[in-house]
Amino acid sequence: MDSLAFYLLLLVSLTAVANPTVASATTIGVTYSTPRSISGSELLFSPERIAEKVVSMKIPAVRLLDSDPAMLRAFADTNVSLFISVPNPLVPLLASNRSLATAWVNRHVAPFYPRTNISIISVGNDVTSDSPDVSPFLLPAMENVHGSLRDLGIHKIPVSTTLYFFNILPAIFFPSAARFQQPKGEDTIRPILQFLERTNSSFLLNLHPYNVYESSFIVPFGHVIFDESPLCFIDDYPARLRYRNSFDMMVDAVITSMAAMGHKDLPLIVAETGWPSSGVETFSEEDLTLVYSEMFLRGLLAHLRSGSGTPLRKEGLLAVYVFELVEEEAKGMRNSGLLHHKVQL
Ligand SMILES: *[C@@H]1O[C@H](CO)[C@@H](O)[C@H](O)[C@H]1NC(C)=O
Ligand SMILES: *[C@@H]1O[C@H](CO)[C@@H](O)[C@H](O)[C@H]1NC(C)=O
Ligand SMILES: *[C@@H]1O[C@H](CO)[C@@H](O)[C@H](O)[C@H]1NC(C)=O
Ligand SMILES: *[C@@H]1O[C@H](CO)[C@@H](O)[C@H](O)[C@H]1NC(C)=O
Repeated sequence: MDSLAFYLLLLVSLTAVANPTVASATTIGVTYSTPRSISGSELLFSPERIAEKVVSMKIPAVRLLDSDPAMLRAFADTNVSLFISVPNPLVPLLASNRSLATAWVNRHVAPFYPRTNISIISVGNDVTSDSPDVSPFLLPAMENVHGSLRDLGIHKIPVSTTLYFFNILPAIFFPSAARFQQPKGEDTIRPILQFLERTNSSFLLNLHPYNVYESSFIVPFGHVIFDESPLCFIDDYPARLRYRNSFDMMVDAVITSMAAMGHKDLPLIVAETGWPSSGVETFSEEDLTLVYSEMFLRGLLAHLRSGSGTPLRKEGLLAVYVFELVEEEAKGMRNSGLLHHKVQL
C-alpha cells in the first residue's frame, strides 16, 4: 500500500489543463507544509515523491511555507510553479543585513531557478500577529531580498509578504466600507502596497470564510459555503453590489481597502483558504464538518472556474492556494487538515 497515495488528495481536476473549457485565468494550487515525524526529526515523505504526486495529479502550483532546497530541486523541469516563503524568524536578519539576504537567495533561489519555476517569494507569513512583532522589519527585508535577486540578474521573481485577513481587516464589514485596521494600515500596509506596485508584485492573503460566519450574525451559513440557491445573497447597499458568497466579499473588502490607499489594481493572490475539518463546535459529528469541507471546496473551485471573478474584480484572482495537500492526520496531528475528501468536479 502506497501510504502517500492514500493520504494525498485526488485533486486530479484541480488543473485547468484537465479542464480545457475553463474560462478562468486563476491558477488553483495547494499549500504544502513539510510534514515531519512526531519526533520532528525525519521527513515523512521525500521531496521527490511529493513532486511526483503533484505532477501526476496535474496540480499546477504549490505554496511552501519554507524553501527547502531539496524540495526546490525535486520540482525542477516540471510545469509546477512554486510559491516559496522566508520563515518569520529570518525576517529581522534579512532586514538588517543585505549580505544575509544575498546569502539566502544564493542558497534557496539561485541554484534552482529557472529550472524550478519559482513564481513568487513571500517574506514571512502573517508576521503582524507574531510576538515579538517583527513588522517593522518586513519592508526592509523585502527590499533586501528583491535587491539581492536583481543583483544576481533574476528579474522575474516578485517579492511580497503574506498577511492574514482578520489581522488586517475588521471582522464585520460591507466590502465598500472596508478599510485596513489602524495603525497597521498606515505603518505597515501602505508602504508594502507601494513596494508591491513599484516592483510589479502581488498582495498575498490568507483568507478563511469560515471566520466570517463565526464572527458575524448577518452572514448565513449557506453564504460562507457557496450555497447556490437564488435567495442566498448579501447586498452591499451603498455600493449597489450583490454578493453570492463570503469569499468574494472578503476579496472585495481587500480590494476596497487597497483602493483607499491608491492601489486598487494590485494583483491579489489568496495564499491559503479552506475549511476547518474538525473543532467546529456547533457541529458535534466530525463527519458533518468533513461534508462541509467538501462542499466548501467544491463550491470554491466551481466559482473560481466560472471565470466570473468578484463584483469588484471581474478578471478574478491571480492564484488561489487551497489548504492543504497532505491531511494533518498523516502528519500525526489533528485539527486542521481539510482535504480528506476526494473532490472531483
Ligand atoms: C510543460 O508544458 C509544456 C507546454 O505545455 C510542455 O510542452 C512540456 O512537455 C511540459 N513539461 C512537462 C515536464 O510536463
Ligand atoms: C511559471 O509559473 C507561472 C505561474 O504559474 C506561469 O505563469 C509561468 O508561465 C511559468 N513559467 C514557466 C517558464 O513555466
Ligand atoms: C552581515 O552578514 C555577513 C555574513 O554573515 C557578516 O559577515 C557581516 O558581518 C554582517 N554585517 C553586519 C553589519 O552585521
Ligand atoms: C508585471 O507582471 C505581469 C504579470 O506577472 C506582466 O505581464 C507584466 O509585463 C509586468 N509588467 C512590468 C512593467 O514588468
